[in-house]
Amino acid sequence: MKIRTLKITDYDKVCALWQNERMGLNNIDDSRSGVERFLYRNPNTSFVAEIDGEIAGAILCGHDGRSGYIYHTCVSREHQNEKIGTRLVDKVFDALKAEGISDVTLAVYIDNDAGNRFWEKMGFKDRDFLQYKNKALVELEWYD
Ligand SMILES: CC(C)(COP(=O)(O)OP(=O)(O)OC[C@H]1O[C@@H](n2cnc3c(N)ncnc32)[C@H](O)[C@@H]1OP(=O)(O)O)[C@@H](O)C(=O)NCCC(=O)NCCS
Repeated sequence: MKIRTLKITDYDKVCALWQNERMGLNNIDDSRSGVERFLYRNPNTSFVAEIDGEIAGAILCGHDGRSGYIYHTCVSREHQNEKIGTRLVDKVFDALKAEGISDVTLAVYIDNDAGNRFWEKMGFKDRDFLQYKNKALVELEWYD
């Protein structure tokens, strides 16, 4: 298995991977141009795992100069529980640290038991004393 940075040329394959899971995609940020803009601003912190030239996992991560944020971590069903997710997240940690970032955040559906256990194993803590808030600035179409 090879881990390398995610490029916009991976978009179709990565998008196909995301479609298989409940990733909380929307029509603007997760469009080709949305992902291209994200990668333009964050070229070094998103990764894919490749097995025999096929994408077996992907993670989208960026930062704003202060905090890192992880999106859409996904491993193909046939390769789950092979530590690919762990390796992708470790790459993200190293990439963020290399850019001077000391903190990273993510959101995971409360009812995603496997996802929540995975993030706990990766060292993420629930911030029970904070309320997650969000406001759409344009009308978004969400694909669960
Ligand atoms: C969550 C996900 C990214 C984990 O990736 P993975 O490569 O399968 O996970 P790893 O093999 O690296 O597992 C690392 C640890 O996570 C935990 N974990 C992973 N999958 C789990 C599952 N199905 N149930 C319980 N714990 C799980 C375990 O503690 C595991 O360590 P262990 O095997 O030593 O106990 C992957 O299962 C996935 O893509 N799921 C669907 C999409 C998703 O839910 N993404 C996360 C939401 S943001």
